Amino acid sequence: MRPQVLSSTLLLASRFSTTAAASTSTCRAARTLFPSASSPLKTCAATATRYFSSTPVTMAANSASLLEAFKARRSIYQLNKELPVPKDKITSIVQEALIQIPSSFNSQSNRVLVLYGAEHDKLWDITSEILKPLVPADSWDATAKRNAGFKAGAGTVLFFIDTTVVSGMQEKFALYKDRFPVWGEHSTAMLQFATWTTLEAEGLGANLQHYNPLIDERVAAEWKVPANWQLTAQLVFGGRAGEAGQKDHLPLEETFKVAGA
Ligand SMILES: Cc1cc2nc3c(=O)[nH]c(=O)nc-3n(C[C@H](O)[C@H](O)[C@H](O)COP(=O)(O)O)c2cc1C
Repeated sequence: MRPQVLSSTLLLASRFSTTAAASTSTCRAARTLFPSASSPLKTCAATATRYFSSTPVTMAANSASLLEAFKARRSIYQLNKELPVPKDKITSIVQEALIQIPSSFNSQSNRVLVLYGAEHDKLWDITSEILKPLVPADSWDATAKRNAGFKAGAGTVLFFIDTTVVSGMQEKFALYKDRFPVWGEHSTAMLQFATWTTLEAEGLGANLQHYNPLIDERVAAEWKVPANWQLTAQLVFGGRAGEAGQKDHLPLEETFKVAGA
């Protein structure tokens, strides 16, 4: 499956189940994902109904494609400014992920800022400025090189949690007061993973950074981010200019248990 088709399908599948007016490109994506659907089912709407509203039939094909995308998502640190898809496409992927990612009680605590081009460059200049007086002089070269690598990318997605949503939920559901901050973190993590995976399914490279809270104030001032948006992570993306490194996996015997017939 072409990565582009996969990413559209990943993000649009849920909408597809509820609308008969799915777009032509979405229909194409669905047919690519479920090739056997095209002959018995004449229209895209019928395809949608048959393949996205019927969970048991959907799961086998979907799980293979999703797992393929999970495996393909890696940390890519060598990035350039040549994006394989238009910026609008990236923006709509991030928006769709933001809409579709679950949150506790559907509280919708995630917030996002996407920076492209000169704004992205500015973020990494700001980060360098902040780090310079904090990093020991003898390790500055390595830090500067690392930051230059981020700046070499084409854009950054900044993820936030809206703290007023979290505190509102704590007031509303006192029983779970201590859980809402944790669940907010879970939801932002889900969004980060979904965004990362989907952008890489489009042929981009990306890596996840955490210069918060050091950069929080400057980010808020520069891009007029509301005070209640708490920065959680920065996903740097761009054209791929290198490959992912080796990665080890612990044996499943150590990390996984199963029980029941
Ligand atoms: C919660 C979390 C925090 C991470 N923080 C950073 C980070 O601050 N900087 C960085 O370069 N990579 C960071 N990473 C990337 C991990 O180092 C990377 O995902 C891991 O080594 C596995 O490699 P892979 O992404 O290629 O699969 C983070 C990943 C996760 C899941």
